[in-house]
Amino acid sequence: MGLFAIGDLHLHFQSELKAPGQLHDPVWRNHEAVFRRNCEKLIAPEDTLVLVGDHSWGRNMSECEKDLTYICSLPGRKILLRGNHDMFWDAKKTESLNRQFDGKLFFLQNNYAGYQDYALVGTKGYTFEGPFYLRGRKIVGWDDEKEQQAQKLIEREAERLRISFESAKKDGYSKFILFLHYPPTSILERNSVFTAMAEAYHAEQVIYAHCHGEHRFHDSIEGRHHGILYRLVSGDYLRWMPERIL
Ligand SMILES: [Fe+2]
Ligand SMILES: [Fe+2]
Repeated sequence: MGLFAIGDLHLHFQSELKAPGQLHDPVWRNHEAVFRRNCEKLIAPEDTLVLVGDHSWGRNMSECEKDLTYICSLPGRKILLRGNHDMFWDAKKTESLNRQFDGKLFFLQNNYAGYQDYALVGTKGYTFEGPFYLRGRKIVGWDDEKEQQAQKLIEREAERLRISFESAKKDGYSKFILFLHYPPTSILERNSVFTAMAEAYHAEQVIYAHCHGEHRFHDSIEGRHHGILYRLVSGDYLRWMPERIL
């Protein structure tokens, strides 16, 4: 029995592909087929696969149907986290998605999933991504207004994460793996409300995605930080091989 994670499938069986990187970077060529092959080699029916957001380019459920059917057909138990591109998934309608896909997919939002004696908790998260003002490659400033807007979204996501942790705690869990779609810190930070919460609840690992392309892979914390293991699992970073978490 194993726990695996990967993010950012960015499927587009029924929708327009919108990322230039996906058109030009060879890692995205036939990535759906490569990923399926890797899953079939690696993941057994009793295993759990957490998909860490940005599942589909579809703008609504009808544009995502084939993408979700593809995800349903992958081996193992599938748990999905919201990414910034998952327009089909209104956070307030998570319960109805869970009813609709009962027994096929589990949507992780304001709730948790059990895995052995661990609670898998999570939310989309958020982090300030600029604009930054650069001199050469050095950051000399940033857009204060955008930074304040980001702060509001960070607070909302932190509250959603707290609900996820507390719902698991109420059911008796004390061991946690934390999933975020966005990296836990901006390129300016080493700590954030998300790292503080991971530490306060003694999460063992923080798993995140969202960072695409060589120039973004090292934007946030990697490896051990204050005793917690941080790992980036965006699909292009892992070259479509799910990462074993436990
Ligand atoms: Fe993405
Ligand atoms: Fe993303």
